[in-house]
Amino acid sequence: MRIDVLTIFPDYLAPLELSLVGKARESGLLDLRVHDLRDWTTDRHRTVDDTPFGGGAGMVMRPDVWGTALDEVLTPDAHLVLPTPSGALFTQRTAERLAPEEHLVLACGRYEGIDARVAEHYRARGVRVSELSLGDYVLNGGEVAALVVVEAVARLLPGVIGNPESLVEESHGAAGLLEYPVYTKPASWAGLDVPPVLLSGHHGQIARWRRDEALRRTATQRPDMVEALDPASLDSRDRAV
Ligand code: ADE
Repeated sequence: MRIDVLTIFPDYLAPLELSLVGKARESGLLDLRVHDLRDWTTDRHRTVDDTPFGGGAGMVMRPDVWGTALDEVLTPDAHLVLPTPSGALFTQRTAERLAPEEHLVLACGRYEGIDARVAEHYRARGVRVSELSLGDYVLNGGEVAALVVVEAVARLLPGVIGNPESLVEESHGAAGLLEYPVYTKPASWAGLDVPPVLLSGHHGQIARWRRDEALRRTATQRPDMVEALDPASLDSRDRAV
């Protein structure tokens, strides 16, 4: 997969050189390029923003600068991602939808956002455009959201995670539940013992215990996710939990 990130703060994306994403880049599984939007400005001050039409606080990013940059970076099958608090919620399903793409282009807005004509223009030209929000809070710009989108998508690419089974049971997976609690050695720590069933070697009982705990945790932390479960996916023991 190729991912281009356009930003006025390329250094913000430095963590993408580390850990699994860094390794995916080194091994060629991920071709990630970070660009400075100001490289496409033409004035002495390298201006990317201006005052909002209609008045109001703050500055808006100019569509002409973004247009020049995106015309150069977008390829015919690219999917344009615009992180914005006004976008649709970015979820694990969104990451799964983006992971098979050949080419993602992430355009990081700052200030009050990017002139609305940018999304409109590229949609009208047949580009797939996704305006995505991390959640119901406002960040200073799209860079942190770009880090999140790149990491959530990159770990789904074949070969990026050593053991693909670790993707199967995790929170927000197919079961629609949060993940069960996990434990490792020592079996007793600070007066707390690992639940005995996990030491029993009884795979059926361990699977049942984990499902009970996933259900309990989901009900406590995310009642909205329990509401969204398909009742047909629950057995009688689940309903008792
Ligand atoms: N830019 C500013 N706030 C954001 C958010 N919540 N999600 C995505 N991009 C943003």
